[in-house]
Amino acid sequence: MQIPLLDLKPSYEKMRQQILAAVADVLDSQRCIGGPKIKQLEERIAAYYGCKYAVGVSSGTDALLVSLMSLDIGPGDEVITTPFTFFATVGAIVRVGAKPVFADIDPKTFNIDPAKISGAITKKTKAIIPVHLYGQMCDMDAILEIAGKHRIEIIEDAAQSFGAKYKGKYAGASGKSVCLSFYPSKNLPGIGDGGMVLTNDADFYNRLIVMRDHGQNPQYYYKYVGGNFRLDAINAAAMLVRLDYVGQWLKRRAENAAYYDRAFRNSPVAVPYRSADCEHTFNQYVIRVQRRNELAEHLKKNHIGCAIYYPLCLHQQQCFESLGYKKGDFPQSENAADEVLAIPVYPDLTKEMQDYVIRTILEFV
Ligand SMILES: Cc1ncc(COP(=O)(O)O)c(C=O)c1O
Repeated sequence: MQIPLLDLKPSYEKMRQQILAAVADVLDSQRCIGGPKIKQLEERIAAYYGCKYAVGVSSGTDALLVSLMSLDIGPGDEVITTPFTFFATVGAIVRVGAKPVFADIDPKTFNIDPAKISGAITKKTKAIIPVHLYGQMCDMDAILEIAGKHRIEIIEDAAQSFGAKYKGKYAGASGKSVCLSFYPSKNLPGIGDGGMVLTNDADFYNRLIVMRDHGQNPQYYYKYVGGNFRLDAINAAAMLVRLDYVGQWLKRRAENAAYYDRAFRNSPVAVPYRSADCEHTFNQYVIRVQRRNELAEHLKKNHIGCAIYYPLCLHQQQCFESLGYKKGDFPQSENAADEVLAIPVYPDLTKEMQDYVIRTILEFV
C-alpha cells in the first residue's frame, strides 16, 4: 500500500467541477487582481473567526511580514518567538530588520512556554509571535497577561491551525494580528500560495490594506514603503468553494487523530498531547519516538509518507549564526527536533490505510 503524508487529490476530485467553475468565473470576468472574490473570502473568514477585519495576502509568510511592517517593527526592536517553528516566523522578523529573541517550548505541546517568555523581555521587546504549532493553540491567557503587563503586541502565527480554538474561542480573541496560511498542506488549502491577516483593530487594518499594496494611498502616492502582498483572485475563488468543506475536513482530521491515539495507547509511541483548553485541529499528527530517524526510514521503505517538522531548531541555523545562540540554549526544542515525526492524518485517509500505518509503526518500536 502507498500512503503519502498528504493527498489532496481525492478531495479535489469531489469538488473539481465547483473549483473549475469558480476559477472560470474569475477568468471570464478578467478581474484577476482584487475584485469581489477577495472581498467575499475576507468577509467569510472574518465571520468564521468572529474578527472584525480580514486582509487577504500573498502567503502566510507575507501575513507575518506585513503585520510586522504595519506595526512599525524594525531595526533596534526585538520580537520574542519559538525556535521550534517553520523558518518563515523568524525569517519575517529578520527581514524587517528586528532581532528575534527565542524562548523555549513546553515539551508537551511543542508551543512556546509562557514561563520562558518573561525572562526574554527587554526594553526593546515590541512583540511576541506565538506559533500555534501542528494545529493546537498556545496558552494564550498566559501570553496575553505578559504582553499586557509589558505593553507589547501579539502577532499570532496561526498558519498551521486554521479552525483551532483556545478556551472555546478562535485565534484573534486577544492579539493584534492573526496570520493564516493557505499553503496547500494547511487545514484550509489554497490552489497556490495565499494567506490572510485577521484583526479587530481598525487602525491596524487600515495600515495593512495600504501596506499590502506598496504603501500607496491614494494611488501613486506612497505613505509607507509596503510591498505587493496581494492574494490572487483565482485562489480566493477556489478557496470560497473549499471553505464550505473545511468543517468536515477538520472533523475527519480529529477522527483520524483519535484512531491513532487509541492504537498507540500502551505502546512506546508518544501521541500528541491535547491541552484541556484547546481544540486541536491536527494539521499534523506528530508522534515522539526514540530512534526517530530509523523509524522514518522504516516507514519510507514501506511506502508510508512521513516528515520531520523540524529537524534543526532555528537558533541553530547557519543563517542566524550572528544571533549568537548555540546548541543547548533551548533544550526542549532541541529534544523535540530529535524525536518528532509527522505521520499521515489528512481527511481522506481511510481506516484501512491507518491500520497499515499503525501496524508498520508498532512492528518497529
Ligand atoms: C508556522 C508557519 N508559519 C508560517 C508559514 C508560512 O506560510 P506560507 O507557506 O503560506 O508562506 C508556515 C507554512 O508553511 C508555517 O507552518
